[in-house]
Amino acid sequence: MKIDKRDWLFIAVIVAVLGLFIGISGKEKTKPVPNDQAHKITYETAFRNTPGPDASIFKRAFFKPDKKGAEVYCEPCHKEKGVPFPPNHPAKNRCLLCHKFKQ
Ligand code: HEC
Ligand code: HEC
Repeated sequence: MKIDKRDWLFIAVIVAVLGLFIGISGKEKTKPVPNDQAHKITYETAFRNTPGPDASIFKRAFFKPDKKGAEVYCEPCHKEKGVPFPPNHPAKNRCLLCHKFKQ
């Protein structure tokens, strides 16, 4: 089989897409929000409107936790309890975009 220019382009696209997937999955190492007593309030706030098991499939499928509501609590408490941020910690608002809730 002869590999011509267009085949190389095709191969390059596949390699690029694979690389992107590997790159994205590597970023999932950020520590999740611990599911303990201290963090209970953030879980409760975010999931307070979770549709019950008898809600319609539609409602459950489109439910989004209230992350912005929960993030209000993060920084004040961490400051008060003296939980250190690592050096070079990224911009500190929107915690939950990086630190995921545990299921
Ligand atoms: C009421 C206090 C309180 C609130 C609110 C709070 N935290 Fe924490 N957090 C702590 C304390 C205390 C620790 C250190 C001990 C521990 O791991 O529980 C901690 C530790 C952490 C850690 C490190 C866990 C680890 O494995 O080392 C992360 C990440 C974190 N918090 C994220 C968050 C985020 C994101 C929010 C907001 C959604 C939040 N916290 C809200 C008190 C709080
Ligand atoms: C842009 C992404 C991003 C945002 C936004 C962010 N963090 Fe982080 N955070 C990280 C990364 C990356 C680390 C270092 C890797 C790790 O240990 O999770 C980290 C580490 C931490 C740690 C130390 C975990 C440990 O014990 O090693 C705490 C605590 C923490 N973040 C809390 C917060 C809180 C609270 C907020 C919101 C006020 C926040 N982070 C916002 C990305 C983020």
